[in-house]
Amino acid sequence: MASQNLLFSTDLISPEVQGALPPGYKLRPLSSDDYERGFLKVLSVLTVIGDISKAKFLERYNYLKRHNHEYFTIVITDPSDTIVGVGTIFVERKFIRNTGLVGHIEDIAVDKNQQGKKLGLRVIQALKYIGAKTGCYKVILDCSEKNVPFYEKCGFTRKEVEMAWYT
Ligand code: ACO
Repeated sequence: MASQNLLFSTDLISPEVQGALPPGYKLRPLSSDDYERGFLKVLSVLTVIGDISKAKFLERYNYLKRHNHEYFTIVITDPSDTIVGVGTIFVERKFIRNTGLVGHIEDIAVDKNQQGKKLGLRVIQALKYIGAKTGCYKVILDCSEKNVPFYEKCGFTRKEVEMAWYT
């Protein structure tokens, strides 16, 4: 795949995580072609996606690409080149902690038929690698109570409380 079609540099893709995937599975940054590979279908296991056209997908992809020092979305593909796992880390620039960086893990999903094969774990390991490489002093995420054991297996510990306000 041509590197100009990828969201960010493959230097930020962990070789160890790639090596731990099942044979024929690949880890890489999101590509501008991933609309056709089922990116949104995988995300739909997480929540409502809405009716997103290719043009709308590309508009959002191009925004992320212009901000690809902050947005890092990764995918795992299976041997048929279909997307089966996705996730994002957003790197926030703070004043506190001596202008520190915090990584926010968002929108993790594994295709229903591919769950339980450690692909979710690999997505999180790959995002933690990006967080560490970009200099984040911590990586945090919000999740449902039912996903706590999964994130504990991924090395996270429970801390504080999530609050939300919907407009
Ligand atoms: N409860 C207990 N343990 C779990 C759970 C769970 N709900 N889910 C996974 N695990 C364990 C597995 O058993 C495995 O343990 P092991 O190492 O002892 O064998 C370990 O966690 C790793 O599991 P994976 O096989 O990597 O998990 P999977 O590939 O199925 O992905 C995920 C987990 C991402 C939660 C998947 O089930 C999914 O897509 N769910 C629907 C969407 C979702 O809830 N996404 C997370 C939202 S939170 C956020 O985005 C920040």
